[in-house]
Amino acid sequence: MMNVILLGAAGFIGTNLAMSLAKNKDINLTLVDAEKKYFPDIITANYSDIKIKESPFQMDTDFEQLLEKQDVVYHLVSTTVPTTSNQYITQELTANVVVTTKMLDACVKTGVKKVVFISSGGTVYGKESDCPLNEETPTYPISSYGVQKITIEKLLYLYHYLYDLDYRVIRLANPYGPFQRPNGILGAVTTFTYKALQHDKITVYGDGSVVRDFIYIEDAVRAIMNIVDGDSVHRTFNVGCGYGTSIKSLLNIIKETLHIDLEVEYVHGRKVDVPVNYLDISRYEKEYGKLNPISLESGILKTADFMKSVYFGK
Ligand SMILES: NC(=O)c1ccc[n+]([C@@H]2O[C@H](COP(=O)([O-])OP(=O)(O)OC[C@H]3O[C@@H](n4cnc5c(N)ncnc54)[C@H](O)[C@@H]3O)[C@@H](O)[C@H]2O)c1
Repeated sequence: MMNVILLGAAGFIGTNLAMSLAKNKDINLTLVDAEKKYFPDIITANYSDIKIKESPFQMDTDFEQLLEKQDVVYHLVSTTVPTTSNQYITQELTANVVVTTKMLDACVKTGVKKVVFISSGGTVYGKESDCPLNEETPTYPISSYGVQKITIEKLLYLYHYLYDLDYRVIRLANPYGPFQRPNGILGAVTTFTYKALQHDKITVYGDGSVVRDFIYIEDAVRAIMNIVDGDSVHRTFNVGCGYGTSIKSLLNIIKETLHIDLEVEYVHGRKVDVPVNYLDISRYEKEYGKLNPISLESGILKTADFMKSVYFGK
């Protein structure tokens, strides 16, 4: 049996990962988040084999106790999101980078074998280089969130060098789908789909020319699990669909797919938004085969179906 623990597990990616990992009967799964009530009902009600623990990710956390006997640690905590991170740079680095070093010290002490870190393909590269961006592209983040992510990546390299702690870094693009909170802060596909279904006004920052690499969460989870289980010489992988879609085309696709007329308001662009971002995923595909992500149309339909059944009870 392998002991696997997810930190920040009640969120969007944690919930989807947990449901996939739970299918593997050779894994003892422990999920951790700040409060039990953050976990969706599907996890607390349907998975009796999964252990759930409440623990904040902060300086006074007893990580040694939390990580005792664990083999693999998924680090899914971020206390901030890209768009607001530049307002609280000190806090960003203290709450994420410094606390992560404490967690990594505990990994070394307790004999954890592998740390999996969800970094950000959307922010670590910044806007200096042309897309598609590969893992060797220089990193110049324009948000402190991106600085946080790249710094934690460097710490993982250092802990591997110093203590032989194995790790995998997933530079994830823009995942969307079931269990992403449609609160309008993060995730254009999820937010716009939710608003479309509710016939709410959609706010777009800038003129809609911003380009992103959207990936359906199940495709992302499959890629993450292949990377974690694999024994490639590479430890850092981009994960996205590998092509760009502008916000304007996304809105069109939502409108056509759901047959709903959208009310869209365009407001001033944000300095924190990289104008164009999409990833070169050839390293992943060379090691693990074609990713074959589903189309945005199919992903939007699946996301809308989930929302109808979970939020709107249809
Ligand atoms: N969603 C994306 O678009 C995206 C893209 C690339 C990378 N990521 C990264 O993937 C990871 C997971 O993202 P997500 O979309 O699932 O986010 P999420 O906000 O849905 O989930 C994160 C979870 O972490 C928990 N958390 C936050 N601060 C905490 C703290 N101090 N102590 C304990 N728990 C805390 C939250 O309660 C939440 O349940 C994050 O590191 C994020 O930066 C996300």
